[in-house]
Amino acid sequence: MTKTFLITGGAGFIGSAVVRELINNTKHKVVNLDKLTYAGNLESLASVENNPRYTFVQADICDAAAMQTVFSQHQPDIVMHLAAESHVDRSIDGPAEFIQTNIVGTYTLLEAARSYWSALKTSAPEKAAGFRFHHISTDEVYGDLHGTDDLFTETTSYAPSSPYSASKASSDHMVRAWQRTFSLPTLVTNCSNNYGPYHFPEKLIPLMILNALAGKPLPVYGDGKQIRDWLFVEDHARALILVAQQGVIGDTYNIGGHNEKQNIEVVHTLCDILQELVPQERSYRELITYVKDRPGHDVRYAIDASKIERELGWKPVETFETGLRKTMEWYLNNKDWWQRVQNGSYQGGRLGAGA
Ligand SMILES: NC(=O)c1ccc[n+]([C@@H]2O[C@H](COP(=O)([O-])OP(=O)(O)OC[C@H]3O[C@@H](n4cnc5c(N)ncnc54)[C@H](O)[C@@H]3O)[C@@H](O)[C@H]2O)c1
Repeated sequence: MTKTFLITGGAGFIGSAVVRELINNTKHKVVNLDKLTYAGNLESLASVENNPRYTFVQADICDAAAMQTVFSQHQPDIVMHLAAESHVDRSIDGPAEFIQTNIVGTYTLLEAARSYWSALKTSAPEKAAGFRFHHISTDEVYGDLHGTDDLFTETTSYAPSSPYSASKASSDHMVRAWQRTFSLPTLVTNCSNNYGPYHFPEKLIPLMILNALAGKPLPVYGDGKQIRDWLFVEDHARALILVAQQGVIGDTYNIGGHNEKQNIEVVHTLCDILQELVPQERSYRELITYVKDRPGHDVRYAIDASKIERELGWKPVETFETGLRKTMEWYLNNKDWWQRVQNGSYQGGRLGAGA
């Protein structure tokens, strides 16, 4: 059955991958609701913008009246909530936007969804029974892992370290409370670090690719030994669509790629692949410079994704090496996309150093 998906933050990095996946590989309709902050980029959706199953609405999730209008006009079956302020370093420079969008915005969206769904229960009970509110979150809510063997599971206690992860933790708690208290049919996913095409160049992997191509220093925070678990964005998008449709109401699913890497290892691999793709006399590794660490920098994140694999049959398609190669090839073939970003809202400067 064809459904209408309301995707918040669909012009962002992961949201746009979800929108492209839904339009290109399913028959569902998509309403992309996005405020278009510095991180929102409609050029990431150029390949689907003329599809009759795709609609864009520019709106702020903190605007209650606008949210009510979107629900009543588009009558979604499934909400996938990705809109957020998402960069830890920016949350150190200015937490206010994170509190506003990630906490107040999620609350506002939950209330709009609850009022729409409550009305559906009388006007269209079948549609109400199929309705889902899927909140997309991060593994950063779990804080830091110091040992080498332990992993974040769905029952790990929350211990966020940054204003970003604290605001996401808060929104996760609200979503679960709306399920327990009001029976709103919600789902939560917590995912590890994503990488892939259309990634805003303030984040580690695209920043390193673009700096290396420009012959600029590759700034590695602290000793570079922080460990992240990397997942190719299109694998994440497929997992999210699966959970939204087949996940158990009220449940949480952790999503990860089984790709634990130290940041310095990521940068080394990236330099070596670039040497193959764009050979130059001196190794790109010579551009690596160690800079002052991020305040409150978590040492290690690692996800146990066995629940989603076991219960929903999801597995990532890409390994870190294949995904990284695809990503680098995409940046090499899509200079217009990132050059316009660089000429606009972000020129590559250090963020979040001044706490
Ligand atoms: N990037 C990652 O590695 C990662 C990992 C796990 C979870 N997540 C979560 O996934 C979601 C998407 O992350 P991303 O990396 O695509 O983020 P992003 O910053 O690339 O995109 C966020 C999008 O939300 C929009 N937005 C921001 N504030 C808004 C508001 N008030 N109203 C409407 N739209 C607004 C922006 O315009 C942008 O298009 C976030 O909730 C993030 O916490 C991200």
